[in-house]
Amino acid sequence: MSYGRSVQFDDYFDTRASLRFYLDLAGETAGDVLELGVGMGHLLFEIAEQGRDVWGIDDSPEMIREAKRKRRNYYPGISGRSRLVVADMLSFDLGHQFGFVYAASSSIQGDSADDLRGLFRSAADHMTEGGTFAFDVMSPHNLRRTINVPPEERELPGGRIVIRFIAQSYFEGDETAAFNILYKEHIPGRTKYDTYREEAEMAIITPDVIDDALRYAGLSRKAMYGDFNKNPYIEESMWIVVVAEKTEA
Ligand SMILES: C[S@@+](CC[C@H](N)C(=O)[O-])C[C@H]1O[C@@H](n2cnc3c(N)ncnc32)[C@H](O)[C@@H]1O
Repeated sequence: MSYGRSVQFDDYFDTRASLRFYLDLAGETAGDVLELGVGMGHLLFEIAEQGRDVWGIDDSPEMIREAKRKRRNYYPGISGRSRLVVADMLSFDLGHQFGFVYAASSSIQGDSADDLRGLFRSAADHMTEGGTFAFDVMSPHNLRRTINVPPEERELPGGRIVIRFIAQSYFEGDETAAFNILYKEHIPGRTKYDTYREEAEMAIITPDVIDDALRYAGLSRKAMYGDFNKNPYIEESMWIVVVAEKTEA
């Protein structure tokens, strides 16, 4: 997924549904914490606030820049124990081991499911024995739809208004879904709009593909949920939320 100027709107549309889940899970782990695809750091910074040493990687320099700006402005107390690095989660070497590695908000869900094996192996290589790996992806049931998501509106600091439109298209042939996302920003009472567009493509990832990639990377699955309230995954679930452990090789 590529992110341009609309990165500035990310936090306002975040539902924070997963925040409690990842915070609680972090509390059950020990050691340093790594987030893959850290974005604006809305989860990682909260985990750092709990006193953990944290690292976040993202392949978008713009995201890392915005995350650093946000840390400076709103989380000054964590700058000594949080590192933000531009790196590709498909292949990275941080030279550091972590007790908890996670990827939230479908950040591992690129345009090909073939990448999962390498990605999980890179994550496992950075984990201590007994360490925890967790992630979520949009479920096949959720992605195999062609829909227009109802527009949502948010007020930004300074009184500006932004409206988000999402069109989702399912391509049965190659088992992918494409998202066209449009943000329209304006100042109330004025007629001029600024428009920002994003496009994203996501491969459909099934539980079987996940289990194969986990096995390949030497990770064993401890739980597979269908949402962030820990309900079991079923075919109609909108999410696949996985918790795995690095076991002895
Ligand atoms: C949907 S956002 C989620 C951000 C954050 N995890 C959160 O929960 O708010 C996905 C993030 O993953 C990053 N990303 C996508 N592909 C990546 C890759 N191959 N390596 C590193 N980061 C990647 C994007 O730049 C983006 O910041």
